Amino acid sequence: MALENILTEIKNEVLVITINRPDKLNALNKQTLEELHETLVNAENDKSIRALIITGSGTKAFVAGADIAEFANFTTKEGQQLSSNGHFKVFNFIENYSKPVIAAVNGFALGGGLELAMACHMRVVSSNAKMGLPEVSLGVIPGYGGTQRLAQLVGKGKAFEMISTADTISADDAYKWGLANHITPQEELLNKCFEITAKIITKSPVAVKAAIKAINAGYNNKFNGYEVEIEEFGKSFGTNDFKEGTTAFLEKRKAIFLGN
Ligand code: COA
Repeated sequence: MALENILTEIKNEVLVITINRPDKLNALNKQTLEELHETLVNAENDKSIRALIITGSGTKAFVAGADIAEFANFTTKEGQQLSSNGHFKVFNFIENYSKPVIAAVNGFALGGGLELAMACHMRVVSSNAKMGLPEVSLGVIPGYGGTQRLAQLVGKGKAFEMISTADTISADDAYKWGLANHITPQEELLNKCFEITAKIITKSPVAVKAAIKAINAGYNNKFNGYEVEIEEFGKSFGTNDFKEGTTAFLEKRKAIFLGN
């Protein structure tokens, strides 16, 4: 599939995905979600890519939501399909991705845009960012995981308030509430993300993957997070990365991880 709505660039072993519909404030239409899915699938198997950054084009918006024009006439069934397809192909897919994914939130992150940022493992936001889940203003609720992930990140009370008032919050509040890991001036946003990825890519990819799995398990009622941790911890002992990491420590040298 030719990519029309997203740009990709590999830099410092990191795939930067830029959602590129600036005239629609990078709103997520079906085509963009399909392109995101395809890009994520391809990058998962590419060993040269160690982490991902997702951002929006321009200086105004990360993503201003799902494309309202596209779903305005949907039926109940189509609404359910839209939501479940999005969960499966993009939002849950990112949350459970085997490599760290950072959202570089460069402006408005509203509705599906904030949901996209929340599906990522970390969020770095620019000081002009504005975040919210305004779906009730449209007579609908967040459908790409927002009711769940916002409560996980900021607590149930603040999630109720943000979702029921449709209020947007500032970058400062997002940082205070735990929604944003870091705030930076807009021109520093990607550098801050690269600073984080630069640390991650010196570590064991298999261990980072296992950590993502164990952390997520605690937020998924199909699993017991502690049991998943025990299993993943044990499995680490069978990896070459573990042998290399411990040997390098004992030999007082830097580990060179091959990711197996
Ligand atoms: N879906 C589809 N199109 C969208 C969009 C969305 N979620 N958000 C913005 N756009 C489009 C606008 O329709 C407009 O297109 P047009 O120029 O063809 O008319 C363009 O992007 C620019 O947006 P505009 O509203 O003119 O910019 P603004 O600076 O006045 O306002 C926002 C910015 C973000 C406050 C406003 O666009 C907005 O409220 N967007 C919807 C947010 C939302 O409800 N998201 C949740 C969806 S589930």
